[in-house]
Amino acid sequence: AEQNRELRERLLQLKKERNAIILAHYYQRDEIQEVADFRGDSFLLAQKAAQTDADVIVFCGVHFMGESAKILAPNKTVIIPDERAGCPMADMVSVDGLRKLKAQHPNAKVVTYINSSAEIKAETDICCTSANAVKVVNSVEGDEVIWVPDKNLGHYVQQNTDKKMIIWEGYCNTHDMLTVKDVEEMKAKYPNAQFVVHPECRPEVVELGDFVGSTTAIIKYCKESDCQEFIVGTEDGTGYQLRLDSPGKTFHFASKYLVCPNMKVNNLKKLVKALETMQPQIYVPPHVADQARLSLERMLLVK
Ligand code: 13P
Ligand code: SF4
Repeated sequence: AEQNRELRERLLQLKKERNAIILAHYYQRDEIQEVADFRGDSFLLAQKAAQTDADVIVFCGVHFMGESAKILAPNKTVIIPDERAGCPMADMVSVDGLRKLKAQHPNAKVVTYINSSAEIKAETDICCTSANAVKVVNSVEGDEVIWVPDKNLGHYVQQNTDKKMIIWEGYCNTHDMLTVKDVEEMKAKYPNAQFVVHPECRPEVVELGDFVGSTTAIIKYCKESDCQEFIVGTEDGTGYQLRLDSPGKTFHFASKYLVCPNMKVNNLKKLVKALETMQPQIYVPPHVADQARLSLERMLLVK
C-alpha cells in the first residue's frame, strides 16, 4: 500500500511534467483504473484519444488500442506500460488472408472490429467496436459485408442485420472460454440474478443473456436496472466500475476464467516507468496510419 502511494504521487508529478493523459480500459487492474483520467470501453477510449489536448497519451489496454490512439492522434506521443500486452484475436487475421477474401467478394464492404492491427485497418472500409457494431454494419452501402476478425461478435451482428455477412473465424480466448454449463450452474446458484453478457462470448452463451452489450453498455444496464444481482459474462476487471457505479448491488462473474492475461500484463509500476522513460512508444508507419485513419474516422462519424 505504501509503495503504491509513492507510485501514485510520482505518477501525478510526471503527468503534469509531460502534459499526459491516462486512458484505461475497463479490463485493466484496479490499481491502474484508479489513477486513470478516463476509464472506458474500446469505443469511448478511441473517442477520448481523438479529442484530447494533451501532448502524451498513456494507453493502458492492449497493443491495438494504443495503435488506434496513435492513428487517431498522429501528432501525439502514445506510450503503453508494456508492449507485450497484445490481443490474440487481433493476431488471428492476416493481411494476405483478408486480401484473398476481398478478391473473392469484390462488392462487399470490409467492416473490421477495432481489435485488429493497423495493417488490417488499412485494408478496411470502416471499423467498429462492440458498442456500435450493428449500427456500423447497417450504415455501409450494399448488402454484403466482409467481417473480421471475431466470429462470435459477427454472429451476434448477423442476427441483428439484413446484410449478408462473410465472417472470419477469429475469437477472443477469454470470452470464448465461457460455456453454457458455466452459466447454467451460476443461474441455478443465483436464481434471482440477471445474466449480462458481452457479444464476444459464444452464440449459445449470448443466447442466455438477459442483456447483451459492450462493456460500457453492461455497466450502464446494471446501474439503471431495478435488479439487484447480476451474473456477469465479461472480463473480470469490469467489476471495478460495476461496483463503483452500483455500490449496493451484487455481481458474480460467470467463470473464474474470465480474466484476459494480456490486459493484466500492465501494472501501476510499469505505468509509472513508462511515463518516466517515455517508452515503449507506439509507432505506426505513416502510409499505414493514413489508410487506417479513414476507417476509424468513418466509425466515429456513425450516429
Ligand atoms: P469493449 O471494450 O468494446 O467492450 O470490447 C471488449 C474487449 O475485449 C476489448 O479488448
Ligand atoms: Fe483480446 Fe479478448 Fe483480451 Fe479483449 S479480452 S484484449 S479481445 S483477448
